[in-house]
Amino acid sequence: MTASDFAHRAVADGVRTGTDAGLAAFDSAARKAIATCRRLATFSDEPVFTTRTFLSEAARAVLDDLRGWMARLGMDTRIDAAGNLRGVYEGTSADRPHLLIGSHLDTVPHAGAFDGVLGVVLGIALIETLEGRRFPFAIEVVGFSEEEGVRFGVPFIGSRALVGTLDETLLQQRDAEGHSVAEALRTFGLQPSHLEQARVANAVGYLELHIEQGPVLDTLDAPLGVVSAIVGQTRADVVFAGQAAHAGTTPMAMRRDALAAAAEWITSVESSARGVEGLVATVGRLDVEPGASNVVAGRSRASLDVRHARDEVRRELSDSLRRRAGEIASRRRVEAEWIMKVDQPSVTMDARLTSLLARAVESSGAAVHLMASGAGHDAMIMASSVPAAMLFVRSPGGVSHHPDETVNQADVAAALKATLQFLEDLAVAVDG
Ligand code: GLV
Ligand code: MN
Ligand code: MN
Repeated sequence: MTASDFAHRAVADGVRTGTDAGLAAFDSAARKAIATCRRLATFSDEPVFTTRTFLSEAARAVLDDLRGWMARLGMDTRIDAAGNLRGVYEGTSADRPHLLIGSHLDTVPHAGAFDGVLGVVLGIALIETLEGRRFPFAIEVVGFSEEEGVRFGVPFIGSRALVGTLDETLLQQRDAEGHSVAEALRTFGLQPSHLEQARVANAVGYLELHIEQGPVLDTLDAPLGVVSAIVGQTRADVVFAGQAAHAGTTPMAMRRDALAAAAEWITSVESSARGVEGLVATVGRLDVEPGASNVVAGRSRASLDVRHARDEVRRELSDSLRRRAGEIASRRRVEAEWIMKVDQPSVTMDARLTSLLARAVESSGAAVHLMASGAGHDAMIMASSVPAAMLFVRSPGGVSHHPDETVNQADVAAALKATLQFLEDLAVAVDG
């Protein structure tokens, strides 16, 4: 029996009966999905590491690669005006609403091979497994062009286009080279004036498959998790401006050191978050000018990322860190500027779709673990327009945003099996 025969059997009876042939089909699809993610991880903006930023040439190579796979499966493909990959597998008739399945294709610097891209690859793998079988909804697989916020400091640019919030202010954000989002889109060959065509219409739901990126499922020895909510996040930059000066001749008392000010503030970020259950605050980036060992720093720019399940707790810490930056600056005779990038509230997943997903996980034979996500996801943006649900795949060792990020083949197979069951159940719900 070939792999595609196995796949056919999976649809025919694997999900319902859990036969060995059905399970082998999911295993084979999982193996292919993992190999695809590892291959795509070599498409990078830099040698050795996987770093794939919004609208880079490596991002274009991934779009082309996955678009080719979609086309071979008979999907109707396009790249929308925000650079998102869209592929539609029609339903039982052309006018059917869409179930969107997706995640993002960009990465953090020095990323692993699975954050984001696994969800897109599994969406396409699922279509391959169907071998032409149709549902009373079209399945639209979406590969979001930008989720991490690396290039412009603002995350979710791809999914914002689908819900209509990629607005003029966001289009004018600038990257480190001074290019705006609008300019970057045009340079890539896209038309910001066509963004309206990227908006989602007539969708029955959005499902995102993603690695957990934390240790919870691994600790529970559970392959899958059903996401109940996604915590909110604040992202801001704090710029300290002092006076660059000679490191050998400027007495300590006369310095206006922008890096020392940032350092004091950064340690207070860490200590303030430590005292509160569930609160996390991170400075992951620090740019220093002019950046020489024999020059007192004249300017520093530190990123801030604060997260908590309760928005008021997150905002309270963000506000107090903003005040703290001002206090440190005035004591040290430097200026502090707070540049707000994101104030994204926490989001609850759609109750109906999530309970359908939980039941599908259960009938596929896996235990149901409901959990909140500490990582941000496109689902939190999509949820403003479309009922959204998320399925997590265990992250062995809880490792993510790191080259060692990995997945277990059996867990990926379990995710495919549960998702196929979800499609079956959703078909009944839509028809009924
Ligand atoms: C996305 O990975 C995030 O920062 O949560
Ligand atoms: Mn990520
Ligand atoms: Mn991600």
